[in-house]
Amino acid sequence: MFLHEALSSLPRRGWAIEVGAGDSLAGELGPAAFERLILLDKSEAMLSYSRKYRLFADLMIGDALALPFADNSISLIIASLADPFNVAQFWNEVQRTLKIGAHCIFTSPSYEWASSFRKQSIGEQEGAALFQLRSGEYVHLPSLVQPEESQIEMMRQAGLVLVTTNSIAADAVPQPYSPKITGCKVIVSGFVVQRA
Ligand SMILES: C[S@@+](CC[C@H](N)C(=O)[O-])C[C@H]1O[C@@H](n2cnc3c(N)ncnc32)[C@H](O)[C@@H]1O
Repeated sequence: MFLHEALSSLPRRGWAIEVGAGDSLAGELGPAAFERLILLDKSEAMLSYSRKYRLFADLMIGDALALPFADNSISLIIASLADPFNVAQFWNEVQRTLKIGAHCIFTSPSYEWASSFRKQSIGEQEGAALFQLRSGEYVHLPSLVQPEESQIEMMRQAGLVLVTTNSIAADAVPQPYSPKITGCKVIVSGFVVQRA
């Protein structure tokens, strides 16, 4: 929802990169949506969910913290639910690789959801997402969700300018709700920033 809204007012020419693509949302928009689309993920297994888009998008294994692109070369970066790599180093890479005036669309789970859910639930930790593997084992993976002001400040510190921010409320998604979001008003926060 946020991606559609944000893209409606942004130029689509040039190279668009989805970072941490997993099962890509940019790919879902189809071959006509971007002039050239690269889907990048650190995990080969996660990127394999986007193989269905390989006829019109390039799939690339790579690290959001060391983007394999030249300075000043990218027209649009999309990072959806990008909390695993939401650190200063990523934002410096966004600033380095975007062309002047180009944009990055970023979403993360909302701080309201992450802080209340993780405080209340057994086994959850701040700064991490808890997953149960097929083997039954539990693992914590990085999930760095910031309050809106700190998030904006981190992007600003990298030299990026906030264009817009918006929230997706739980009642905007179809029911039945996952028990993980029950009782939470805002579930996803979205930001559009621009390289000045
Ligand atoms: C929460 S998932 C989001 C997937 C997809 N963008 C979406 O909105 O459904 C986070 C993705 O980021 C990838 N990821 C985690 N750390 C990364 C890093 N340092 N560089 C690139 N991708 C990374 C994971 O493999 C995973 O596919």
